Amino acid sequence: MMATSPTSTPREPHAPLVDIDIRHKHYGERPILDSLRLTLAPGEIVALLGPSGCGKSTLLRIAAGLDRDYAGTVSYNGEVQRGPSPLAGVIFQEPRLLPWLRVADNVCFPQRARGDTRNHARSLLEEVGLRAEDGALWPKHLSGGMAQRVAIARGLFTQPQLLLLDEPFSAVDAMTRMRLQDLLLAIVDAHRTAALVVTHDIDEAVHLADRIVLLEPAGGARARPANRIFEVGGARPRRREDAGRSVLRRILLEGLETLAR
Ligand SMILES: Nc1ncnc2c1ncn2[C@@H]1O[C@H](COP(=O)(O)OP(=O)(O)O)[C@@H](O)[C@H]1O
Ligand SMILES: [Mg+2]
Repeated sequence: MMATSPTSTPREPHAPLVDIDIRHKHYGERPILDSLRLTLAPGEIVALLGPSGCGKSTLLRIAAGLDRDYAGTVSYNGEVQRGPSPLAGVIFQEPRLLPWLRVADNVCFPQRARGDTRNHARSLLEEVGLRAEDGALWPKHLSGGMAQRVAIARGLFTQPQLLLLDEPFSAVDAMTRMRLQDLLLAIVDAHRTAALVVTHDIDEAVHLADRIVLLEPAGGARARPANRIFEVGGARPRRREDAGRSVLRRILLEGLETLAR
């Protein structure tokens, strides 16, 4: 039976996993985002770079369906989303664990911890590099890196097709950061999820992403097309020190410097 409902549009054949099409987003009179179109396929990683306040977190919230106050659409598999998308898993800069729940219950949250959900949480903890017994710990006993691994496990709990990560590794030390980047690559590879990652770090963007969007603040006079998109190229995992991408790094740095002015 063809199910039609006022809240969904028919599926398009061969639609991308996610299609973000934002015509405008304002806060009051102030334009934040405009004319932004971004599609992601399964297994694809897109990094969002841009100066502070240019709307990166706003874009992520719109993609997750957490902000509906904009002109445009976000579609998953050709279906326009009208609310928080069950296909998206969100991971923030801070782990945002609930201190009154043990680690495993944080991973299951907001579902009730039952036998099957606990087993799923345990296998996710192992996948993110923790031990199953770490599930019994309280969040206050975790290091920053461990807590962020728990947040990643929680983001994976609903088996999302798209991970939305908002500066996910900026609060941890450099070595932990590299390990977490490699964890993200392994997860995307294993689950064929797509990922949209906000970062301030050009090296991180170049290491992780298939494409990099340089997000320009909306409004004002623009000397060139807004929101430039760069193809990174090269199969992952990539060598961090790869000199082949030094030109791209320099273009991104100059772009960011110009936009931040
Ligand atoms: N709820 C809100 N009401 C009004 N202005 C907001 C709100 N949230 C964010 N802003 C403003 O919108 C702009 C974009 O915010 P944000 O998406 O958080 O930027 P970014 O993540 O790129 O730093 C910022 O100038 C911010 O101050
Ligand atoms: Mg932000």
